[in-house]
Amino acid sequence: MPASFVGRKAELAAIDGLLEELHTGRGGAVAFVGEPGIGKTRLLGELIARADMRGHLALNGTASDLERDVPFSVFADALEEYVRGLAPEVLEPLGPDVVADLAQVLPLIDRTVGAANTRATHERHQSHQAMRLLLERLAASRPLVLVLDDMHWADSGSFELLLALLRRPPAAPVLIAAAFRPHLLPARVDRALERAERAETLSRIQLEALPFEDARGLLEQRDDRDVSLIYAESGGNPFFLEQLARFGQRAAAAERSGGLAGLEVPPAVAAALGEELAELTDEIRLLLQAAAVVGDPFEPELAAATAAIDEEGALDALDLLLARDLIRETDVPRRFRFRHPLVRRAVYESAPAGWRLTAHERCAESLAARGAPVAARARHVELSARHCDPSAVAVLREAGDSAAGSAPATAARWFEGALRLMSEDAPAEERVTLLLLQARSLAATGQYAESHAALLESIRLVPDEAAAVRMRLVTQCAVVEHQLGRYEDARVRLQRALAGSEDEHSREAVDLMLEIAINRLFQADFDGMHAWAARALAAGEPLGDRVLTATALAIQAAGAALSGASGLGHEKRDDAAGLIDGLSDEELGGDLNAVTQLALAEMYLDQFESARRHAERAMSIFRVTGQSGHLALITAMLGTSLWIRGRPVEAMGVLDGAVEAARLVDDAHGLSWALFNLADAASAAGDLDLALSAAEESWELAKPFEPGPIRAHAGSAFAIALLHGGHAAQAADLFIKAAGGDELRTFGGAVRNRYLEALTRCFVAAGRHEEAERTVADALACAEDVGLPSARGMAQLALATVALARGEAEDASRAALHAVVAFDSVGHAHGATHARVVAGRAHALAGDSTGAAEILEQAALDFESFGASRYRAEVERELRKLGHAVYHRSAAGTADAGIGALTARELQLARLVVDRRTNTEIAAELFLSKKTVETHLRNIFRKVDVSSRVELARAVERADSD
Ligand SMILES: Nc1ncnc2c1ncn2[C@@H]1O[C@H](COP(=O)(O)OP(=O)(O)OP(=O)(O)O)[C@@H](O)[C@H]1O
Ligand SMILES: [Mg+2]
Repeated sequence: MPASFVGRKAELAAIDGLLEELHTGRGGAVAFVGEPGIGKTRLLGELIARADMRGHLALNGTASDLERDVPFSVFADALEEYVRGLAPEVLEPLGPDVVADLAQVLPLIDRTVGAANTRATHERHQSHQAMRLLLERLAASRPLVLVLDDMHWADSGSFELLLALLRRPPAAPVLIAAAFRPHLLPARVDRALERAERAETLSRIQLEALPFEDARGLLEQRDDRDVSLIYAESGGNPFFLEQLARFGQRAAAAERSGGLAGLEVPPAVAAALGEELAELTDEIRLLLQAAAVVGDPFEPELAAATAAIDEEGALDALDLLLARDLIRETDVPRRFRFRHPLVRRAVYESAPAGWRLTAHERCAESLAARGAPVAARARHVELSARHCDPSAVAVLREAGDSAAGSAPATAARWFEGALRLMSEDAPAEERVTLLLLQARSLAATGQYAESHAALLESIRLVPDEAAAVRMRLVTQCAVVEHQLGRYEDARVRLQRALAGSEDEHSREAVDLMLEIAINRLFQADFDGMHAWAARALAAGEPLGDRVLTATALAIQAAGAALSGASGLGHEKRDDAAGLIDGLSDEELGGDLNAVTQLALAEMYLDQFESARRHAERAMSIFRVTGQSGHLALITAMLGTSLWIRGRPVEAMGVLDGAVEAARLVDDAHGLSWALFNLADAASAAGDLDLALSAAEESWELAKPFEPGPIRAHAGSAFAIALLHGGHAAQAADLFIKAAGGDELRTFGGAVRNRYLEALTRCFVAAGRHEEAERTVADALACAEDVGLPSARGMAQLALATVALARGEAEDASRAALHAVVAFDSVGHAHGATHARVVAGRAHALAGDSTGAAEILEQAALDFESFGASRYRAEVERELRKLGHAVYHRSAAGTADAGIGALTARELQLARLVVDRRTNTEIAAELFLSKKTVETHLRNIFRKVDVSSRVELARAVERADSD
């Protein structure tokens, strides 16, 4: 029986504080950190008891040393049973998609969603979102405490999920309490937790040794001298205290227990543990050691088989072990666990190493005989296999294959294990295959650097005569280098490999050429891009592969469009689209470049609606095949086409997902890429704060990148955000620095004009009129070159801006109306509306207030339909100045009337609450004191008639979605 709880006053007070907050609707997260045995689990137990007492729902999951390869195991442990027991109505409101996503984390909740639906790596954020919604749902009727113990042993899926929940906590009273030993966490997780602490979404409670007075309470039956001795030896660690109290008196015989050296506990504690085990008879100790090999918790049958003793004897031994409190029952029948993880470790260490090998072997065999999944066997095979054992290599490879879809991090580890076991003289091709599999799994988790290393190794190993394999590896390696932003390395590697190839018409050679074309894109050599694609198209023709042809055509179309050769672009685009629209999803899934590059071409050819359609198709194929390297471009195309077509809020959703996905795997290149696209979408939606923070982060990441469109876009997005923030001169300079001089040549085709227009605004706002005029001239020339309406629209818009600044109202209005017509002709809703605003201002300046009002009315309506309320409000202000009454279109008298009553400042603040920011963060962001924030919040609560931040968040979200 565990002793009664002692000490920990401050920690308990902190726990009560968190529970109190929870009671008022505020969720949070807390981490209990400390060395093994210091009392984390025990304190979590107190937390659960106190939560229960308050009527909160407390759910508890534990990671296990031996289950690190089961995806999301900690969360499943905490939630699965409970959620399965719920009435179906509880989950129904989440909708079938969310339930399907959720089943990725909790596979047992919905048997209709099978493994076939396994999500791609980079779609994991959808499961995270589903989990967030589930937690919100569970906390709808009473606060929820989610306890995650032993997180230092968590699988990577559970880590990612925890971090995702910290980054964006559920909008409900949910307290997440995790416990872990420090120094055991992956560095990436450690860094993320520190970030969460700085952002005040996580508080850390460090557990230290018990002071003497509390320790005495633990050892109540002892006399003082004993207590002092034990305390000194234990250093105040409660597990050590208990262990020494159990067997400390004989610990003088410490030397006898030399076998526990692998255990990181003080020698006296190791001795006490050793002594406790020495008390057992050989047969009973054997069973215990076998159990430690099997796992924690363990099943007695398996332990008996592992010990090679009969089951009856095993059950007797079990009774004795229970009586001695070395093992305990769990709430699942026929499952037992060790008294403490440290006890299991000690037992494991106490077994002779040679015996352990055979024990793992027996355990693996017995699992195989019971038909256990290969993943369960792999750990034992890995620990017992002889070097060069081909059957062990096969098991690990199979385990890797089976995990590759849902848990690529685990798969990579198994492939690595298989490689380690493989004999030196195994055929190079086998090794290369395994390396390639490992590289793919690593790339799927976003570990591009490690994937790259595996590919380099395999390239080194591949024999000279296997030329085709080598070319495939080089292409794969270049793909990863592009994801790492190492464009120049990729270029050299690809071109060298192609130079060494003997057959220009082989599949491998054509694939190399296509990757070179993509490489040209990353280095802003758009002519090279379409030239290489054309060469690939010609070389590949005899192969008669429709997907290959479609891919080459699409890349050629995109290259042509980016280089401003719109005619050629249109021609190739039509050919590509004709082919691609006739191909099935399966066929296209083989190489997502085809449909993605088609969307890119269309984006640069003013075919925004087709671009959106094709990007959407790419996205749905991606969901099935999950080729992680494609996500950035797909979401960029989808997001951009959405905001251009007047749907910026949806665009933000798509790009937010891409940002999450990239953050998940620490992918700097992909993150920077997703962030500037998010900034564009946010800016289109009028969410300038988000635009600024996303663009700034994107540029910070991109600064050290090799020059090319990614870096240029990142810098320009930040420049635009700076312009909105009133730093025009700085913005102009950054533009020029990031995008290849004041002609912004790093941008291709019509998109260059999008940025020339923005640069013009920078110059005008900075009073640099000559440069503004030169930029307008560039934009007009660019429009001539590419001959596309959007390019013309941007040039005219720039012209109008300059004219307006000069006070030339008529020129300004003419140019702006030209721009409106040009944009409207290609469905560029975003451009048309902004051009309308300039046209309206020009009319007003010319004294035609009726005409101005008419145009601005239209712009206000458009902004409203975009969900861009900031811009709508700006336009309405101008309308009011013109003496034009503005009627708010938001329905009065409904539930969102309260939100409508908020001032702009209050609304801004309320939005930050929606973003789950703390008062301190809000204060910092808005340059207010915390007091003022509190006052504002009180007013907001009163106006909106809510009593908690959660309710406020809901009200704002409801109003937004109406
Ligand atoms: N405050 C306390 N009062 C009474 N007993 C305690 C206290 N703290 C810890 N213990 C006891 O000490 C032992 C070790 O504590 P616990 O299992 O909570 O450690 P832990 O930090 O979770 O270790 P690990 O990192 O190995 O999981 C347990 O038997 C526990 O009951
Ligand atoms: Mg513990």
